[in-house]
Amino acid sequence: MPKISVSILSIPKENAVSTFYNLETAKVDYFHIDVMDGKFVANNNLELMKENALTISHISNIGLDVHLMVENVEEIMDDYIDLEPQIITFHQEAIRDKERTMEIIQEIKRNQIQVGMAINPETPIEAIEEFIPYLHLVLVMTVVPGKSGQALIPETLEKIKALKKYFMDNNLEINLEADGGINDKTAESVKKAGCDILVSGSYITGSENFAEAVKKLKGEF
Ligand code: DX5
Ligand code: ZN
Repeated sequence: MPKISVSILSIPKENAVSTFYNLETAKVDYFHIDVMDGKFVANNNLELMKENALTISHISNIGLDVHLMVENVEEIMDDYIDLEPQIITFHQEAIRDKERTMEIIQEIKRNQIQVGMAINPETPIEAIEEFIPYLHLVLVMTVVPGKSGQALIPETLEKIKALKKYFMDNNLEINLEADGGINDKTAESVKKAGCDILVSGSYITGSENFAEAVKKLKGEF
């Protein structure tokens, strides 16, 4: 059964704390923290996400799945390392330098945190191939990063299938995560393609019954 990582991006600030509580009781597996710097993507939510991640770390035992959509990975990840998240994921497109990439991977691992690398819809698998043996997770963006509520791009499923095959062929125990446009209609094809972790934002947080939405994504209905 896939794990569900709920994106908190579209939760209104006013009732954030009670929403976090309700998501926890709905049995999500991770809180997905979408961090945006206004450079790698147009939106900037650095302060709000830091605040939200800190709040969640105080009120919940559920792991933080931090998705850094930022250029200055080294500086921003330090804020999150202190919160002891389960996963920190950064973008291949933000770095594009082998030495810097390896230093970031090692720094995250030194802190006993799982390290993930994300790729945008237009980025081919070859761009991350050399780093795969050092990773715990690969995040395939199923929408263009930047905002929630977009439709899943079907072509990205081919990339998930190819990565799954690559991991199997090479005996690699690496998690595959998909992010963007995942709802009760699209989840099945993402799972079939081989994903272990489904990120879902607006579908869960916009539904009347969080627990039911999570069950539907997991396929428990
Ligand atoms: C997109 C973010 C996603 C997204 C998920 O930039 O990384 O996590 O907000 O939201 P939905 O599920 O609404 O596409
Ligand atoms: Zn995300």
